[in-house]
Parts: sequence; structure tokens; C-alpha cells
Amino acid sequence: MTNSEPISAGMGSGPVAVVPAERGAEARARAVARQLDVAVQRDNHQTASVILYVGHDDLWLQRADVAQASPVRVDFASPRLQHRRRSGHNELLGRAVGVKAGESPRVVDATAGLGRDAYVLGDLGCEVTLVERSPVLALLLAHALERARISSVESVRAAAARMCLRQADSCSLAVPQGVVIYLDPMFSQRRGSAAAKKDLSVLQALHSATDNEDSQLFEWAMAQPARRVVVKRPSKAPPLQQRQPSHAIMGKAIRFDVYAR
Ligand SMILES: C[S@@+](CC[C@H](N)C(=O)[O-])C[C@H]1O[C@@H](n2cnc3c(N)ncnc32)[C@H](O)[C@@H]1O
Repeated sequence: MTNSEPISAGMGSGPVAVVPAERGAEARARAVARQLDVAVQRDNHQTASVILYVGHDDLWLQRADVAQASPVRVDFASPRLQHRRRSGHNELLGRAVGVKAGESPRVVDATAGLGRDAYVLGDLGCEVTLVERSPVLALLLAHALERARISSVESVRAAAARMCLRQADSCSLAVPQGVVIYLDPMFSQRRGSAAAKKDLSVLQALHSATDNEDSQLFEWAMAQPARRVVVKRPSKAPPLQQRQPSHAIMGKAIRFDVYAR
């Protein structure tokens, strides 16, 4: 679980169409589409609910079935993440995984998504393995990590150097002894900023939910030799599987349930 691994192709990417974003980007779009095992489309992408736009040096997702949908990118140097860094919003997550002065645990983020929380953890000094099962999201994360490693912002380079990516179903992995497992399963009752809702809308469109998957993820995490399992929950939701955590770190809209082992 230590090295970045190549994105696997041919996994099937659900309702996604790949579209070249600009002139001259067709060859790159074709390569991306082959990697994801989906078709390149020009105009006729009504069947897809999410479009992956491929530019010369850019990749972004956009809902195809929502009028005036905004683009969703993974960019660790974005003003939004840098604001989150400065405004101290990261403190709760850091406390939940056990960041202390001089101590930053190794974390397996088993639901990496758009990598926002993983970046925060990397920025707080944790070595983070991002695990994401969606091939499209893993592609965006890999692209963002490549860019972050050569960013002009020193803190972004430093955080990226602590992050590595794996495209897999977390439940198929065995994690090393003593890591912290972080789970942020998909949940629909999420409140928050317009930007957070836009991100979630794309994640939900990409997602093909199966029954009990949050429970399966939680059971897998609790069976690993981790030192703690941290679960992000909406502040008023019951704990996963009604299992009371050792303690919880409360925020306004969300909380982190901490299961110490
Ligand atoms: C709510 S999002 C996580 C958002 C993330 N914390 C962030 O900051 O961007 C949940 C993500 O977990 C992924 N996921 C769900 N179950 C998974 C599993 N068993 N293995 C790997 N990824 C999984 C989904 O594909 C989705 O991208």
C-alpha cells in the first residue's frame, strides 16, 4: 500500500462520456477513454449523466443531465482548499485522526472521492494512502497529484509528497498494522456550501450504490489491524450500524466518530 499504482483500465466507468475540451485534445481524449473503457463522444452524449472533459493539460467533470452544471476539478492548489487550510477548518479532522504536536499518523483514506479530506490530512503531515474505486475519480486524483508535485506552492508540493493513490475497492485490501482508517461514505442528507453540494452531485451521479455498502465498508475497517477508525457523519445522523464510537468530534454540519482500537 505504499507506492502509487497505475490506474487500471477496462473496469467500466458507469454513466460517463469522455469529450475533448478543446481543439487538438482529441488524441488525449481517446487515450483517456481507452484507459477508462468508455466511448469518446463529440456532440451526442445525452445518454451519459456525467461528462469527463479532457483538455491538453486539464481534466474536469460536469453533470450532463443538469442545466448550467458547474465543472468539478481536483486541484489541490485551488483557492478553496487553500482557504480551508488558512481558516482552520482542518482542525477537527486532524484531531479525529490523532494529529498532535510532533505526531502525524499514517492514514488510509478508504473513500478518497475528490481527495479534499486526503489533502487536508497530507497538509497536516500525515502520510496518506488514497483508495478510490471509481476509475474516473482515480484518474482525476492521479492527474491532480502529478500537478501538485510540481506546484509552485511549497506546502502543496509537501502535502502531495505524502500522498499516494490506489484505485481499488477498499474492502478487498489488507491495511498495515497501526494505521488510521478514515471513512467518508456517500450520504445524501449532506448540508454545506454550494461548492460542496456541486461536488456531491457529481459523486452521486458517478456512483452506483449497492445495498449495505456503508455497513460493509465499516465492517471491513473494524476488522483491520488499524489503531483507530474514523467515520465522517452528518451531525444529526446515527452512528454507522448504530455502533457507538469511543468519542466524537463535533462540527456544525458534520461530526467525526472515532473508534479507538
Ligand atoms: C463522499 S465521497 C468522499 C469524499 C472525500 N472524503 C473528499 O474529501 O473528497 C465517497 C467516495 O468513496 C468512494 N467509495 C465508496 N465505497 C468505496 C470502497 N469500498 N472502496 C473505495 N472507494 C469507495 C466513492 O466512489 C466516492 O468517491
